[in-house]
Amino acid sequence: MDNSAKDPSKIQTMFSTIAPRYDLLNRVLSLGADSYWRKFAVGRLPKVKNARFLDVATGTCDVALEIVKRFPPDTKVVGVDFSEGMLNLGREKVKKEGYQDRIDVRFADVTSLPFEDNTFDASIIAFGIRNVRDYKKGISEMGRVVKSGGKVVILEFTSIQNRFFRTPYRFYITKVLPFIGELISGKKGAYKYLPSSMLEFPGPEEFKRSIEETGLKDVRYYKLTFGIAAVHVGTKP
Ligand SMILES: C[S@@+](CC[C@H](N)C(=O)[O-])C[C@H]1O[C@@H](n2cnc3c(N)ncnc32)[C@H](O)[C@@H]1O
Repeated sequence: MDNSAKDPSKIQTMFSTIAPRYDLLNRVLSLGADSYWRKFAVGRLPKVKNARFLDVATGTCDVALEIVKRFPPDTKVVGVDFSEGMLNLGREKVKKEGYQDRIDVRFADVTSLPFEDNTFDASIIAFGIRNVRDYKKGISEMGRVVKSGGKVVILEFTSIQNRFFRTPYRFYITKVLPFIGELISGKKGAYKYLPSSMLEFPGPEEFKRSIEETGLKDVRYYKLTFGIAAVHVGTKP
């Protein structure tokens, strides 16, 4: 993929454009698997009292909502994103579900997070890091704001390894997915970016090494659904 496709202002505009149909398209295009993948990622967060978690690239707040539903009432989440279109929908969902007192939704860029070092018990990002041109900078920031011993949890599509599943999967994401994406969103182009960004993202081993290069330790990963997605977890020393 041409690196200019990941120009931050283009990514911002793209997500704000598709925001109104984003949740529906997620469910349809992943055949419902995206909810399970988020639940799995949230399950990797540490169980601590009065936990403070940061949901980076929170979008429409699905991860933040999953956290507050799963964790005790003393758990609070800050959700950040740089697309106002996505954040507005996220805020509406949080309000509708009555979690405004536990989820604080704010505008921020993952590559320069507006928080002090060692603020959170963990930071988490779901389907966001692939869109960040300097993704190591994003991961470094996610580590910086986490306390020593805290976790950084990253859920992302990964280059599929299973050789029987690879061909039908490629067909699905390069042909079927952009077609359905355009049909439902009514926007041309946005769902062309998705397959190329998915196919070009590093495999789980290479991504693990990149995470280690940011200084996180004990990095491990879990492949989900034939390796379509993976959750990487690192610990701040
Ligand atoms: C595919 S959505 C994922 C949203 C949500 N985490 C989920 O699981 O549905 C990707 C999100 O990443 C956000 N994003 C991309 N680059 C970002 C950056 N540099 N800083 C903050 N948010 C970013 C986009 O605005 C978009 O809302």
